[in-house]
Order: sequence, then structure tokens, then C-alpha cells
Amino acid sequence: MEVFEAIVSRIEVREYLGERVPDDVKLRILEAARMSPTGLNLQHWRFILVEDEDNLKKLAELSTTGKWVAGADFAIIVLTDPKYPFHLIDAGRAIQNMQLTAWSMGVGSCIYTGVREREMKEEYGIPDNLTIAAIIGFGYPVKKIKGVKSRRELSEIVFSERYGEKLRLT
Ligand SMILES: Cc1cc2nc3c(=O)[nH]c(=O)nc-3n(C[C@H](O)[C@H](O)[C@H](O)COP(=O)(O)O)c2cc1C
Repeated sequence: MEVFEAIVSRIEVREYLGERVPDDVKLRILEAARMSPTGLNLQHWRFILVEDEDNLKKLAELSTTGKWVAGADFAIIVLTDPKYPFHLIDAGRAIQNMQLTAWSMGVGSCIYTGVREREMKEEYGIPDNLTIAAIIGFGYPVKKIKGVKSRRELSEIVFSERYGEKLRLT
């Protein structure tokens, strides 16, 4: 799948089939994270792959906005070092690369950020100096994805030269 097509057609998937995602696909998704850029190439992110059914259920229990992760085939916890002011940009770039790579292979995914952080850190042995940037659940989608997205028009969000100036391409 071409990159732009993957961007345009991908939507968040929160309902997953029971079908297992093969290991080589998982590794490719993780490789997409590893190949992502970071500010100053610091590569401070760390990723925890969660595949165990009980651990996925635990993730759901410790989440405030991602209960659906209990039904995922696997999840990836994304950790960053908050001492770098750009750490969440670094997380976002790795997350988007993972989600697009997954989608290009037919694997749906969704991100969530609402967690009971202290308890999660204890449960998953996460060091104190790292923060939980987000968690992504992955799996084959239950529903056929039609690629219809709710997004603002380009003219609403892009300006030419100066804020508020109508977009015009020269
Ligand atoms: C930074 C960020 C945080 C998000 N947090 C959550 C979340 O906690 N729980 C959830 O179910 N979806 C979460 N989402 C998913 C958004 O609701 C979703 O990307 C948005 O509604 C667009 O969905 P679509 O691409 O399917 O149209 C988050 C998305 C982003 C980018």
C-alpha cells in the first residue's frame, strides 16, 4: 500500500477479530518504531510488547480511556523520557509509523493515553524516569474499513503566508 493511501484510508480500529497477527508482522511494526526519527537522534523511547491475554486484560483495567484494548491481539506500550521537551513528538512519530505499517498489512490499531500511571508502572516494571506516552492496541478489524473520515476542510486549517490568510497556491 502506498504511504498516502495508507494515511487517507486508516481509521482507528477498536474492535478486533480473534485471528492472531503473525510474529513477522509484529516485528515489522516494531521495526517501524525503531526506524523512526527522534530529536538529536536520542532514541530515548522504549516499547513494551504485550501479547499475553491476562496482561492485555490488566492493561484494560488500568486504563481510563482504552478499555477496548482487552480485545486486541497485542498492544505496545510507548515510553519516553520527559526530560526532553520534544519527547511526545518523538513518541508520536514512532506511533504513527507503527500504525501505518500495521495498516499497510491489514492490521487495525488504536491509540489511547488515559492510564492509571502509578499502577501501570508498578505492574509492568516501568522505570521512574520514563513516562507512558501512549498505548496502541493492534489486531485484525472486525468491520470492513471504508476509509470515510471526519476531518476539517483544508481551507479551514491551512493558511497562506500569514495566519488567517486564505490558502492560495502560486
Ligand atoms: C494523541 C491522541 C490521543 C488519543 N487518545 C485516545 C484514547 O485515549 N482513547 C481512544 O479510544 N482513542 C484515542 N485517540 C483516538 C482519536 O479519538 C482518533 O484518532 C480520532 O477520533 C480520529 O479517529 P479516526 O482516525 O478513526 O477518524 C487518540 C488519538 C490521538 C492522536
